[in-house]
Amino acid sequence: MEDKIRREIITTADGSKTIHLPELNEQYHSKHGAINEAKHVFIKSGLYHTLDIRSFNTIDILEIGFGTGLNAFITLLEGEKINQLINYVGVEAYPVAIEEALYMGYPEVLSIKEKESVFEDLHQSIWEQAEKITTNFVLTKRRQFFIDIEDKNSFDLIYFDAFGARVQPELWTSAIFEKMYEALKKGGVLVTYAAKGSVRRAMQEVGFIVERLPGPPGKREMLRATKPE
Ligand SMILES: C[S@@+](CC[C@H](N)C(=O)[O-])C[C@H]1O[C@@H](n2cnc3c(N)ncnc32)[C@H](O)[C@@H]1O
Repeated sequence: MEDKIRREIITTADGSKTIHLPELNEQYHSKHGAINEAKHVFIKSGLYHTLDIRSFNTIDILEIGFGTGLNAFITLLEGEKINQLINYVGVEAYPVAIEEALYMGYPEVLSIKEKESVFEDLHQSIWEQAEKITTNFVLTKRRQFFIDIEDKNSFDLIYFDAFGARVQPELWTSAIFEKMYEALKKGGVLVTYAAKGSVRRAMQEVGFIVERLPGPPGKREMLRATKPE
């Protein structure tokens, strides 16, 4: 991955925007709907599944690839709806410029223009520092390569939202999933939009119990991996 790769903003099938990298033919979100994907993969199959299994005073979430902040924003909004305290850590090596993030217009597409300042706060918050964004949501953005993650037994839920294996195969290996396994608490859950057999096997190799679930619109399947109790 290079810092200076060309970027275009495109509109996905549900009307929400994403960043397209033409040289790699890769997007930050699904072309079939950025918001639909975030809601299906990370919120429904990740956040709500985890909260269904057990209750938490504060749920600790790690995001692999903070990017535009869309997943963080949608998680914050859900936390507000159900009054759940969320401690959210977003890891990102190549931060999106604030102007580009604001241009995505997510609050407007979600019909909550009044939350624009909250979305902006996610991006204005200082890196490497825990910042209280709302009464329910604390965010720490870490500028870090995924390979350098060394957390142990710290998270209840991981949103694994790296670019696809076609573009960055090194991020979908047992070496990275081992780090994810270590970072999770026992019973912790990792969700990802990917469904490839090689990815599922790499997860199983390091000890995860893996389920194939129906994918978001435009995608047949996705994966959910659980660290045994
Ligand atoms: C699919 S996008 C994430 C989209 C993001 N979750 C969102 O809601 O906008 C993948 C992200 O991983 C970042 N990235 C790529 N390679 C990385 C690496 N080796 N370490 C850390 N971040 C990386 C990219 O800059 C990009 O923001």
